[in-house]
Amino acid sequence: MCGVVGYIGKKQAQSFLIEGLSKLEYRGYDSAGIAAIDNGTLSIVKCKGRLAGLADKVKENPVKGTIGIGHTRWATHGEPSDLNAHPHTNCKNTISVVHNGIIENYLSIKEWLSSKGYTFKTETDTEVIPNLIDYYYEGSLLDAVIKAAAKMEGSYAIGVISTEEPDKLIAVRKDSPLIVGLADGEYYVASDIPAVLNKTRDVYLLDNKEFVELTLDGVKLFSEYGEEIKKDVYHVTWNADAAEKDGYEHFMLKEIHEQPKAIKNTMTSRVMPEGEIKLDDIRLTKEEIENISKIYIVACGTAYHAGLVGRYAIEKLAKIPVEVDVASEFRYRDPLIDDKTLTIIISQSGETADSLAALRLAKDSNSRVIAVTNVVGSSIAREADDVLYTWAGPEIAVASTKAYTTQLIDMYIIALYLAQRKETISKLELEQIKKEMLALPEKVEEIIKVKEDIQKFAANNYMHKDIFFIGRGLDYNVSMEGSLKLKEISYIHSEAYAAGELKHGPIALIEKGTVVVAMATQEYLYDKMLSNIKEITTRGAKVLGFAFEGHTEIAKSVDIVKYIPKTLEMFAPVLSIIPLQLLAYYMATLKGCDVDKPRNLAKSVTVE
Ligand code: F6R
Repeated sequence: MCGVVGYIGKKQAQSFLIEGLSKLEYRGYDSAGIAAIDNGTLSIVKCKGRLAGLADKVKENPVKGTIGIGHTRWATHGEPSDLNAHPHTNCKNTISVVHNGIIENYLSIKEWLSSKGYTFKTETDTEVIPNLIDYYYEGSLLDAVIKAAAKMEGSYAIGVISTEEPDKLIAVRKDSPLIVGLADGEYYVASDIPAVLNKTRDVYLLDNKEFVELTLDGVKLFSEYGEEIKKDVYHVTWNADAAEKDGYEHFMLKEIHEQPKAIKNTMTSRVMPEGEIKLDDIRLTKEEIENISKIYIVACGTAYHAGLVGRYAIEKLAKIPVEVDVASEFRYRDPLIDDKTLTIIISQSGETADSLAALRLAKDSNSRVIAVTNVVGSSIAREADDVLYTWAGPEIAVASTKAYTTQLIDMYIIALYLAQRKETISKLELEQIKKEMLALPEKVEEIIKVKEDIQKFAANNYMHKDIFFIGRGLDYNVSMEGSLKLKEISYIHSEAYAAGELKHGPIALIEKGTVVVAMATQEYLYDKMLSNIKEITTRGAKVLGFAFEGHTEIAKSVDIVKYIPKTLEMFAPVLSIIPLQLLAYYMATLKGCDVDKPRNLAKSVTVE
């Protein structure tokens, strides 16, 4: 996720570009840049780091011009650096582009353009865009952008300026947001409404493949076939804060809703309907994979819970023994690591001190280290041998939601990749697994749509002091994550137990009215879970049960059932965690807790 802005008017563009970007920093903040055209000359200032650094830079060396574009970056392709920061230009330095999204076919476009003599200086996918526009330019910037967009696959919201037509700003979007602000003699583009709210409340909300041409005379809209189109102006009535959250009350709720897209993005170009799992990010040879005798998965908190699911997937599919450990324990317990050990560090932020120390310990002991992280250029990403990113976009709420589900996806991808290389699964099995995996975003969407039952359960039970979660196998791992979500944001005491362990102690806690969330998605453990549920209901527990659709037997033993769309048992955690996130969210809001910033917690734990 990145933020883009653009301006054309009578004033110097720089002031709006910096102000507009400051409202979009929530979309990314690892580098920023602006470009403007003055007297036919393009000038660009960009730098790694937060927007404040760019603002200081342009105070000393202003970017002159009354037409300009700007960008705040959340790195995907290419680490955060001055060079990879936007705006990017064509090799002739006549066209400048800012881009939010991912051009999925950039490598083939790059190869094709290189064969025509184009050269590239950055690691970004974006750099192909100005060069592609240049290739198609025959006297109309709008036409060239339309032709370039027809070649681009993936998602994009782009702003384009060119010295060939210095009085025009062209913009277009597909699957990344973009709006156009309309004021008197001044026109704006931005990824999100708050960027323009100080200037105007009249905007066009662009739809996919709508092109806009901004000049001093006004704004014209075009279809992908170059025909002029008309659109209603939308008058904004709400305030900026709500808009940054896309109308959601909290970032956590927004991020829960972003999961279908985040999961889809994380699978993009790795899991495809046809062919093998593609993992260019990991450079392990078949021989190296066959040499792995053991895998350690090391992480903290929610990321550790994703690791537990990863263990199941890797052992089941790739038949390699896996140990999962919390980083703060692993780093001090003299683990047995050698050059046949593969270590996987999972960390949303890529900066967690214990996870980083675990990574260094593993490397010092000659283990190959793969990082699974959400932050490009983070310490863990930089120090690992290979990195598999989660494409969740910035996670603002302290309680992790979309990072967890995308970490699960990355773990499945690693498991499948290892299995494919070791030939421990057949082509047919791989095809079936991929089919189910690709259907997950839609199923997550389906679950998110129906939340009234969870809301009702939350309303009836949020005053309880203790809530327990039970499950077996992967359901136990999801219970741990559900329990963590609940305690961290609602401050309700909560524990997760392996259901088979109840009779070895925890069942002593069950009395009349005790609230228990019982997960029963795993078919091979279903009957055993039903027995465990019976054990607690006969002692008075009030149970919210979870099972796959069609497994209605559970309804006889529990107070309320939440049915989850059917998928492979292995993928159940991706679906069953969603109602648990919502349950925690609704209980916390009913209690009046500060959901996005729970007490005593920080988003990134960079101290031991
Ligand atoms: C809980 C949560 C934390 C993090 C943990 C590790 O919702 O977010 O438990 O998972 O602090 O953080 P990262 O993944 O950044 O290493």
